[in-house]
Amino acid sequence: MNNSTTIVPFPARKPPGRVVAIASGKGGVGKTFIAVSLARALAEQGERVLLVDGDLGLSNIDIQLGVQPDLTLAHVMDGEATLAEAVMRIAGGAASPGGFDLLPGSHGIASFADLGERDVQRIAAGISALSFSYDRVIVDLAAGIGHAMLKLAADADDVLIVALDEPASLTDGYAFVKLLKSRRPAARIGVLANRVKNKKESDRIHQSFARACGSYLGFEPGCAGAIHEDQAVKTALRAQMLLSRHAPTSTALGDIETVTHLVRSGTAFETRVAA
Ligand SMILES: Nc1ncnc2c1ncn2[C@@H]1O[C@H](COP(=O)(O)OP(=O)(O)OP(=O)(O)O)[C@@H](O)[C@H]1O
Ligand SMILES: [Mg+2]
Repeated sequence: MNNSTTIVPFPARKPPGRVVAIASGKGGVGKTFIAVSLARALAEQGERVLLVDGDLGLSNIDIQLGVQPDLTLAHVMDGEATLAEAVMRIAGGAASPGGFDLLPGSHGIASFADLGERDVQRIAAGISALSFSYDRVIVDLAAGIGHAMLKLAADADDVLIVALDEPASLTDGYAFVKLLKSRRPAARIGVLANRVKNKKESDRIHQSFARACGSYLGFEPGCAGAIHEDQAVKTALRAQMLLSRHAPTSTALGDIETVTHLVRSGTAFETRVAA
C-alpha cells in the first residue's frame, strides 16, 4: 500500500483585478473619454472590466454612454443600495464579448463633491472588494487635487495621468503626481498625452513630466503613449456613442488601441529612478 499523501491544492481565490485610476489635476482634458474607451478596448481584448465613475459629484460617464442608471453611488452612500446592486451592464455587461460593467456616479449632488474621509474610505473599500470579480477596474476621477481623488488614486495599482500640451495642464498634472507620491511613494504612474497634433507635442508633454518629476521627486513616470486631436472624438461624444462604434477607423481609436497594449503589458506605468 502506498502511504504517501496526495496534496490536493486548495482552490485559489481569484486574485483582485488590477485597478487603474485615470487622473489629471486640470479638468476637461479627456479623462472620461479615455476611461470609457479604455474600458471598451480592454473588454474587446477579452478582459472582464468594471468602469467606476469616480467623479462623485459631477459624473458624466452615463452621459457619454447615453445610458440612464436607476441606481448610482449616491444610493449606495445613502444606504439604499449595495455597490453590487448599483453595477449596470454596458453592451451586455462584463460577461459579454466587448461589454463591460459600470458603477455610475451621481449628478450635481453638492455633498458628494465634498465627501468626508469615512465615506471615501467606504467607496475605496467597495471598489477593492468588487475588483475580485473583474480582471481590470478603471476608475475615472474628477478634476482637482482633493483628498477624495488622491485617496482613490493612492489605492489604485496603476495611475494614468492625462495631460495636454498646455502649461496649466502640465502644472496641475505635476501637482497631482507630487501629492500622490507623498501619499504613496511606490505609486506606479504613467503619463498619457492627449489631443496632440504631432509627435513633437506628445514628446514635449512626456519630457516635461520626466524633467519635473526627475528633478524634484527623484523618479520618471512611465510613458503611456499619446492620443491625437481628432474630430471623431467630439462627434462620438455628441452622439453619445462609443468611439469604436461611431468611428471604428478613426486615428484616436487606433491610438487608444496602442495605449491599451501599453496598459496591459504594464509598460505604461514603468517608473524609473531619475538618473
Ligand atoms: N483626443 C481628443 N480629440 C478631440 N477632442 C477631445 C479629445 N479628447 C477629449 N476631447 C474633448 O475634450 C472634452 C472633455 O473631455 P472629457 O469630458 O472626457 O474630459 P474630462 O477630463 O473627463 O473632464 P472633467 O475634468 O470635467 O471630468 C470633450 O468634449 C471632448 O470632445
Ligand atoms: Mg470627466
